Amino acid sequence: MGSKYRNSFFEQKRAWSKYKDAVLNYYLAPYLQKVKEIKARGVGKPICVVDMFAGRGRFKTGEIGSPLIIAGHLNQLASQGYEVKLLCYETYDEHFAHLAEELKPFPFAKALQADCFGDMDNVAELASTHTTLLYIDPCDVNQLVLAKLKLVFDKVRQNQSVEALIVFMARAFLRQAAWARSIETRIGDALNDPLFADADDDDKAMWLDALYDKHVATQHAQVQETHSLLNNILGSNCWEALVDDESTAWEQKISQLVDEYKKQLRTWFKCVEALPVRPDTSSLPKYWIAFASRYPPAFDLFNRAGCEMMRTRELNVRNQPDSLFAGIETEPEVPQPQTVDRAVKRAAKSFSHVSWRELRWATCSGRSVGLYTDSEVNQSIKRLLRSGWLTGATGDKVEEMASIRPSQRLVDWIDH
Ligand SMILES: C[S@@+](CC[C@H](N)C(=O)[O-])C[C@H]1O[C@@H](n2cnc3c(N)ncnc32)[C@H](O)[C@@H]1O
Repeated sequence: MGSKYRNSFFEQKRAWSKYKDAVLNYYLAPYLQKVKEIKARGVGKPICVVDMFAGRGRFKTGEIGSPLIIAGHLNQLASQGYEVKLLCYETYDEHFAHLAEELKPFPFAKALQADCFGDMDNVAELASTHTTLLYIDPCDVNQLVLAKLKLVFDKVRQNQSVEALIVFMARAFLRQAAWARSIETRIGDALNDPLFADADDDDKAMWLDALYDKHVATQHAQVQETHSLLNNILGSNCWEALVDDESTAWEQKISQLVDEYKKQLRTWFKCVEALPVRPDTSSLPKYWIAFASRYPPAFDLFNRAGCEMMRTRELNVRNQPDSLFAGIETEPEVPQPQTVDRAVKRAAKSFSHVSWRELRWATCSGRSVGLYTDSEVNQSIKRLLRSGWLTGATGDKVEEMASIRPSQRLVDWIDH
């Protein structure tokens, strides 16, 4: 990672970091309440959170970073007698020294000055006895090498209670991918040029320099390195076709890239979804938080955290000084019931029958993560059952396992 970015990261919390931290914070509260009740052989199973790229603990402006957000939540459990652990990996001397100081008040927390990937065996060992959450937030997408993460994901494959939150900078990935492809195309042209192809081996480098520029040979080496790095992050070379496809807009390509990343994570995790995170100043996501779990009901908690974050952001955007509503609105807006009903109808239409909870997850997943909470969708399913759009339950109460079917009216419904 560029040391300039690593240092400037902690000058002050940027708008997108604020929302990323909000998701972690909103997620941890219900997650820890749930997992603290998990028992292994009759006794409470200990909980371990691993912050793999921990940083310095606190921003220079005083705002807390991920290690202290996590420590605060775990501290509440520790004070109630639950067994908890926090491991924070940080390689950079200065950040590590600061982090170690910040974590001193928390006896269950450990700052480790080590490359997180070098300690995967230890993490995997802990994950076999603890309910484990991995928080993976590097400064640079190049550090998200799936081949390395695989070390821990493989080892915990059998383990039910391991989850991961991964900050995936899809935009930065695609930027590098576009650069790599443009250089490859240029070099490809050079290699096919007859002046080059027919030249004696000794003259080839001279022709490359003469026809193009003297950086081509250096770029060739760089691009090969970037190419294999990108393959290792994504677990495949599908990004090449994405970049080359001229009929697809860049925003669409980024969404497809995120879908591809989720597909790779499904090798290890049954449930994988991704939440876009945008700064106040732009509607374009800065990055995605990928959520990976072996336990699909945990998605409701992540999605709820996503809804809280998205609604807080919308409120902040509406309250910006130059906005019409500046200072007027104090409550986040919730979606209209008819909006949620339409989303549920759209999801239900694609099934012949589906369990209540699967219908809820289908409504909230994919591009809709962070739009409708589980309880808003449950209310909608009840409404649609009572009004005859869905069948299979009375709609008086939530029945998670009931088999829900679209009625003929919904089958005939055309979504305009
Ligand atoms: C984006 S910052 C982390 C921010 C932190 N999650 C927060 O919210 O406060 C990434 C940090 O990871 C550290 N780092 C980079 N490579 C690492 C590695 N291989 N293992 C552990 N830490 C690493 C960097 O020095 C940097 O401080």
